[in-house]
Amino acid sequence: MPLDVERARAETPGCRTVTHLNNAGAALAPSPVLEAVIDHLRLEATIGGYEAAAARGEATEHAYDAVAALLGARREEIALVENATRAWDMAFYALPLRAGDRILTSTSEYASNVIAFLQLARRTGVQVEVVPDDSDGQLDVDALRGLLDERVKLIAVNHVPTHNGLVNPAAEIGKVATQAGVPYLLDACQSVGQLPVDVREIGCDLLSATGRKFLRGPRGTGFLYVSAPFLERLDPPFLDLYAAEWTAPDSYTMRPDARRFESWESSLACRIGLAAAVDYALALGLEAIEERVTALAAELRERLRAIPGVSVHDRGARQCGIVTFSVAGHPAGEVAEALAARKINVSLSAPEAARYDFERRGLPVLVRASPHYYNTGDELAALCQVVERLPGR
Ligand SMILES: Cc1ncc(COP(=O)(O)O)c(C=O)c1O
Repeated sequence: MPLDVERARAETPGCRTVTHLNNAGAALAPSPVLEAVIDHLRLEATIGGYEAAAARGEATEHAYDAVAALLGARREEIALVENATRAWDMAFYALPLRAGDRILTSTSEYASNVIAFLQLARRTGVQVEVVPDDSDGQLDVDALRGLLDERVKLIAVNHVPTHNGLVNPAAEIGKVATQAGVPYLLDACQSVGQLPVDVREIGCDLLSATGRKFLRGPRGTGFLYVSAPFLERLDPPFLDLYAAEWTAPDSYTMRPDARRFESWESSLACRIGLAAAVDYALALGLEAIEERVTALAAELRERLRAIPGVSVHDRGARQCGIVTFSVAGHPAGEVAEALAARKINVSLSAPEAARYDFERRGLPVLVRASPHYYNTGDELAALCQVVERLPGR
C-alpha cells in the first residue's frame, strides 16, 4: 500500500510552517509523538515526576516492545539511552579490546565513532583499519573478508553514512562477521525509520540508533540493541544502581538484560514519545516508507543534476533519503542560508563529520538535503528553484 501523504502531512504540524528537508538532522515529529511527550510532561507537572512514572509505567515499558518490534529483536535486548553516540559508546567501550587487536571500519565512518577508536588506540594500542569501498562506493565486502585474521576483534561500520546517500551492505557484512566469529557493531543512526532494519537478517551483535532522525521521535532519545548471546561478552564502561544492584558491601550484580547499559535517570516523556514514533512508523510500514523516501531522494538528485554547476556526491548501489550536493562558486553555507530565507531546512555536512571520506574524495563542505515521506515533489522543486536563482547565477 502506498503511503497516504496527505494524511501524513495533516498529522505533521511542522509541514504547515516549513519545508523540512533536514530529516537526517532531526525530523518533524508527528502529532501523536508531540502529544505523548507533552501529556507526560503535563502529568509530571500536575502530580509529580515519580508519581507520573508510576502512573504511566506501562507506557514507558512499551518503548522496549516498540523498539524491539522495529528491529526484530526481543525486549531484553534493548537499552534506551539519550542518543545514538551514547548507545554506540556503551557497546564499544564494553568490548574487551587489547593492544594489537584490529578494528575494521568503513571509509564513511562518523566522526564520534572514529574519535572513540582513536582514543582506544591511544590508551591500549588497538589498531584501526579502514576497509576500502567497492566500485559503487559502498564498503567492499570481499575486501573486508580479505582483511580478516585472528587479530580482528571488531567490525564496526555504519549502515547509512551521515553525509552520503548510500546504504552499506549490512547483511553481507553480517555474514562475513558471523562466519569469522568477529563481533559486529552496526551504526544504524541514519537508517532506522527510513528503511527496514532487522537485526536477525543483518546478523549484527550490536546496533545503535537515534530517535530524532528518520524515526521522527523526540530529541534526546537513542537506543542500543545487544543480542542476548552477546550480552555476557561485554563489560559496561559504567554502571549505576539501575544497571546493577549493590548486593553486599563489596559486591554488585548486573541486571540480566541490556538495560545494564542504561542509567537510572532519563526523560520518561521522551521515552514515551519515542515509543509513539516507533508505533507510528510501524503502522505506516517501513517498506512503504523506504519506497517513498527513496523515490523522493532520487527525484531530488535528478533535479539537482540538471542544474548547471551542481554536483551530487552520493554513491552506492542502493541509495536512500540522504542527498548531498555542492554548487560551484557558492559555498554550502551560502546555499543553506538562501534556502533558510525561504523556510527550506537543510543541513551541512562538513569534513570533520566523516574525515576519512571527505579527504579521500577531496570533498568540500556539502549541502545535505534529506526528504522524508511527508515531503512533496513541489517542495523538492522549491529547493531547486532557490539553487538555480542563487545571486550571481
Ligand atoms: C551515521 C551517524 N552515526 C552517529 C550519529 C550520532 O548520533 P547522535 O547525534 O544521536 O549521537 C550521527 C549523527 O548525525 C550519524 O549521522
